[in-house]
Amino acid sequence: MTVTIKNEEQRDKMRVAGRLASEVLDMIGDYVKPGVTTGELDRICHEYITGVQNAVPAPLNYRGFPRSICTSVNHVVCHGIPGDKTLKAGDALNIDVTVIKDGFHGDTSRMFFAGKPTVQAQRLSQIAFESMWLGIKELAPGKHLGDVGAAVQKHVEKNRFSVVREYCGHGIGESFHEDPQVLHYGKAGTGMELREGMTLTVEPMVNAGKANVKLLPDGWTVVTKDHSLSAQWEHTVLITAGGYEVLTLGANDRR
Ligand code: MF3
Ligand code: CO
Ligand code: CO
Repeated sequence: MTVTIKNEEQRDKMRVAGRLASEVLDMIGDYVKPGVTTGELDRICHEYITGVQNAVPAPLNYRGFPRSICTSVNHVVCHGIPGDKTLKAGDALNIDVTVIKDGFHGDTSRMFFAGKPTVQAQRLSQIAFESMWLGIKELAPGKHLGDVGAAVQKHVEKNRFSVVREYCGHGIGESFHEDPQVLHYGKAGTGMELREGMTLTVEPMVNAGKANVKLLPDGWTVVTKDHSLSAQWEHTVLITAGGYEVLTLGANDRR
């Protein structure tokens, strides 16, 4: 597949899809507390996306994924399947929402805590958040994908955490996952040159221990090999003439 450049009309549709995805995360935050199951969080998001937003939850049936959102708790790195798991006080989880509206995808994820987070989870989440933003701030026409990866990797490793290599950000638009791959490690000045009108995600997965991951037998759930905590944040971003526009800012980021 080749990289798609979005025209003005397509950019507007990406803005709408991005805003809807972020609004799902704004909505679900209040429900994340000890005692709730990840399956309940999925059901609430599914109802909101389909019933209130008149949008489509992109994960549902995507390559056989069985639910509408991903819920990745503690040592789960990504693609956790919502189900019977009940959250307990101190659990940290990533909720990843992708909606399709008018044919275009908006993809975003954030970290949430059930009750009071541990010091380690709080710190890991904070560094993952900062690394995502340092990557986003590299985006501009003429810059290279390696600039993003290098910025993310440098910040994570300076803080003695590790960057997951097997999963990455991606181009996004009428397809969920488009070219290019957006690696969260690398060397500045290398890789594809960015152009105005590209839309991509930056979504670093950061582990408290080693970077190695393994896939569980369900074919989806990715966990850290050493069972250390993992954290992730994700935004969908448009490359503009002057740099970038984040399409999935939450109500709190927009103020
Ligand atoms: N939202 C994920 C991403 O950021 C992809 C989830 S694919 C699914 O790319 F099938 F697990 F939903
Ligand atoms: Co994504
Ligand atoms: Co996502």
